[in-house]
Formats: sequence, C-alpha cells, structure tokens
Amino acid sequence: MNTLPIAPLFARIVDDLATHGWSQQSIFIPTDLTTQLAKECHRRAQFGQLEPAAIGRGRAAIVHENIRGDHIQWLDAGHHPAVDRYLGLMEQLRTAINQTLFLGLEDFESHFALYPPGAFYKKHLDRFRDDDRRTITCVAYLNEQWLPEQGGELRMYLGDKRVHDVLPQASTLMVFMSAQWPHEVLPATRDRLSITGWFRRRA
Ligand code: OGA
Ligand code: MN
Repeated sequence: MNTLPIAPLFARIVDDLATHGWSQQSIFIPTDLTTQLAKECHRRAQFGQLEPAAIGRGRAAIVHENIRGDHIQWLDAGHHPAVDRYLGLMEQLRTAINQTLFLGLEDFESHFALYPPGAFYKKHLDRFRDDDRRTITCVAYLNEQWLPEQGGELRMYLGDKRVHDVLPQASTLMVFMSAQWPHEVLPATRDRLSITGWFRRRA
C-alpha cells in the first residue's frame, strides 16, 4: 500500500508543472484503486463497451489505426465506485492547480484506454486544431508488474532531442501541459491499460 499522505503529492505536482511543465508520480494512485480500475476496464472491454479511438473531434473524428490503435470508453460519474474515487482525486488535483497556477481549469474529461499488444499512438500533441480548451493532460496507468522489456512506454519529447520514457506501471500518474509536449505511445507485448484525461479551461 502507498504510505505518503496525499496533500504533499498534490503540492509536488503543482510545483513540477510550474517549473518544468510536467510531473511524474510513481505512487499517486493507491494500489487497491488501480486494481479495481483495471478490473473494471477489462470487464467493460469484455462487454464490448470500448471502441476504437478516433483522431480529431466531433464530426471530423476518424479512426486511423496506423496513428492510434487503442480502444476507449469515456467516463461518467455515478456508475462505479472506483471510477468515482478516481474522479474525486482528479477534482482535488484540479482545485490544487487552480489555487496556485491560476489556469482557470473548469472541468475534467477522461476515458479508459486499452492498447492491445502491438497497438501504439504516434507522436502528437493533445490539442485539437479548432478547440484549445484542453490544458493539462493526466495519464494514470493500471498495469501491475510491468516489465521494461514489455515496451509500451509513454515517450515524452522534451526539446533539444531529449526524450523521457515512462513505463505504464500501476500507480504511476503522468501530468503535463497539453499544448507544450509532443509525446507518443510505443507498442507493447501485453494489454496496456490506462485512464487518460484532460483538465479543460473555459472556451
Ligand atoms: C493520449 C495519450 C498517453 C499514454 O491518449 O492522448 O497520449 O501514455 N496517451 O497512454
Ligand atoms: Mn496524447
């Protein structure tokens, strides 16, 4: 089980965002919560509730498996206790960020994502051409005992040819400025589960 109290963790994320524009926390999500979320994601996948993810927004959205191959389901509050608990954590984080960075973050949209073996998401920025509300990206990983040789890294492009790879290990939370950092998801040899979400500001 994780032992760090939650409040200093929020403070560290806010601090990292202010100084670097991104933050990686390896023990953000309590272990029992990642287990429940992974189970629920698998269950929804088995019931055919996850759909191939699209590129773009609204009517312009199209599925392109040579760009991204994950399956997703958007999350709503009020259907599952573990999902609600996760959304509660994100709400606390939103408040903490707003108190300090004055970004005017208004809401949080998020989805389960399942990348089957071999699936990837090519290098991109998390901003739509016609909508700049997405401000901060948060990715929570749900994969217990992920091994480096299983691939599936989130590769962050940090400028000056610097890259930073993040293993999609359970309990890890990655937070970054959506418009600032190009990133990609590398293919893995096993199912790769996560919850990806965005804090959005007013239109
Ligand atoms: C995305 C994305 C990263 C990850 O869904 O836009 O970049 O590690 N996800 O799953
Ligand atoms: Mn992305």
